[in-house]
Parts: sequence; structure tokens; C-alpha cells
Amino acid sequence: MVQAVQGAKVVVTGAGGGIGAALARRFAAQGARVVVNDLDAARAKAVAEEIGGHAVAGDASSIVDEARDALGGTVDVWCANAGVGRDGGEPGEPLREEDWALSWDVNVMAHVRAAHALLPEWLERGSGRFVSTVSAAGLLTMIGTAPYSVTKHGAYAFAEWLSLTYRHRGVRVHAICPQGVRTDMLDASGSAGDLVLKPTAIEPDDVADALFDGIEQDRFLILPHPEVAEYYRARATDPERWLGGMNRVQRQWESTR
Ligand SMILES: NC(=O)c1ccc[n+]([C@@H]2O[C@H](COP(=O)([O-])OP(=O)(O)OC[C@H]3O[C@@H](n4cnc5c(N)ncnc54)[C@H](O)[C@@H]3O)[C@@H](O)[C@H]2O)c1
Repeated sequence: MVQAVQGAKVVVTGAGGGIGAALARRFAAQGARVVVNDLDAARAKAVAEEIGGHAVAGDASSIVDEARDALGGTVDVWCANAGVGRDGGEPGEPLREEDWALSWDVNVMAHVRAAHALLPEWLERGSGRFVSTVSAAGLLTMIGTAPYSVTKHGAYAFAEWLSLTYRHRGVRVHAICPQGVRTDMLDASGSAGDLVLKPTAIEPDDVADALFDGIEQDRFLILPHPEVAEYYRARATDPERWLGGMNRVQRQWESTR
């Protein structure tokens, strides 16, 4: 059992399936009380029933009060996990403003809104934990989807900012940055996902393992694919070379379409 999590009151957004459901199951197995949120009420209910948790259906941005009430008035851990992948429109097509707006709203602003609502309580108590399911795309990029790449960089930047601003006041932040994970989102990622994500895809439970190792070791950056650390270093230290390499992947993808 992970001491920091036993008896904790936990909310996981987008937990009706995929990574969120795996996180919800793992928190419950570690003795936490869990609110399972999803836009899809039936999926949230099914996971909540399975783990003895509480389902709160609705948009991740608007459920803080209801989730807090369901947990008896306090939240110890918020997992900002709900996310969307949209491509934003090909050149020559109209720009899909709605894809960009949804990506900002779910992938970034839902995190900002939750943190804003929870921080007063956490700072007063001197404890709280914010878990952000970002993506390796938040450190690197994702071929074929500018809205996902840009907003996941935003989610990472926000998690980083939260961590450095509040760590001395008892707030712990974890940014989970996996590459491919076998979920509905990966299945929907098309030929780009087939090329760059599926060959090294892992299971949602592997992501939960990595998060719990990170909680035990009190680490901010959680890399379920450890090789991402090397790609991140390469991007930072030699951006020209990194861009050239990624453009080769882009051209490889174009040749398969
Ligand atoms: N699957 C991957 O390869 C992968 C890799 C890196 C990061 N991620 C990230 O992991 C997170 C979870 O993705 P997943 O792969 O488990 O996807 P998934 O599609 O299996 O699950 C996402 C869940 O979020 C729910 N959801 C969507 N918008 C919501 C909203 N506004 N409010 C509440 N719930 C909402 C969906 O109904 C769905 O049940 C996302 O943030 C995603 O970007 C996924």
C-alpha cells in the first residue's frame, strides 16, 4: 500500500475507460475513496460500481463541487485525465476552430479550472495532489495533430508551474507523459497513431504502475516510456537535428496515407 494514498479522497476525470479507469481502479485498490467522472454517464457508473466508488457524470471542467460533495467535503487528489485528440483541419480545408477550442477547453482549461477551485482548500490544509495526464506529445509533439501537440504542451507547462509555485506549501504535482497506450483514443488515432504510437504501446495498467512509483518517489515527471527522457533531451539540446528527424517521420507517414 502507498501510504500517501490510503484513505485519500480522489477524483479521476475521464475515468469511464482507458487510462482514467486504470487510475481509478488503482487508487481504489490502494484504499482511496474515488469519484469516477466521465462525460459518458453509463461508463462512469460502470467503473464506479466495479470499484465501490462514486460516479459523477459531466464535463471535467464543471464537476469540482459535485465531486467534493460526493467525497464528504474535501478532495485530496485530483487526476486531470480527461483529454481529447483532434486534428484541426488539413491545409486547404477550413480551419476547424471548434477542434482547437475543444482541445484548449478539455486538455488545458479543465486543469486550470480544477486547480483554481481546489488550491484554496489545499493551501489552507498544507496538502493536496494534482495529477495531470499529459502525454509525450506535451514534451515532444504528435505527428498530424497541431491542436493536441500545442494543448498538451500547455497542460505540461501548467503542471510545471503549479509544482514550482506550490511545492513548498504542500502541494504535489505529477505530469504523466506516455507515448501510446492501448485505449479507445489510440484506436482512433488513425495512421499516424499506427506509425508512431502502436509499435511501442503499453497498457493503461502500466501507466498506473508508473504513477504509483512516481508518487512513492515523490517525482514530478512520470515517464511510462522511459525512452521519452532521451527524446526530450535531444529536442532541447539539438532542436535542428530533432526537427529534421521528426520531419523524416512526417514524410514516412505521408508515404503511408
Ligand atoms: N491513449 C494514448 O495513447 C495516450 C497517450 C498519451 C496521453 N494520453 C492521454 O490520456 C488521457 C486519457 O486518454 P485515454 O487514452 O484513456 O482515452 P479514452 O478515449 O480511452 O478515455 C478518455 C475518456 O475521457 C472522457 N472524456 C472526454 N472528454 C471529457 C470531458 N470533457 N469531461 C469528462 N470526460 C471526458 C471520454 O468519454 C473517455 O471515456 C487523455 O488526456 C489523453 O490525451 C493518451
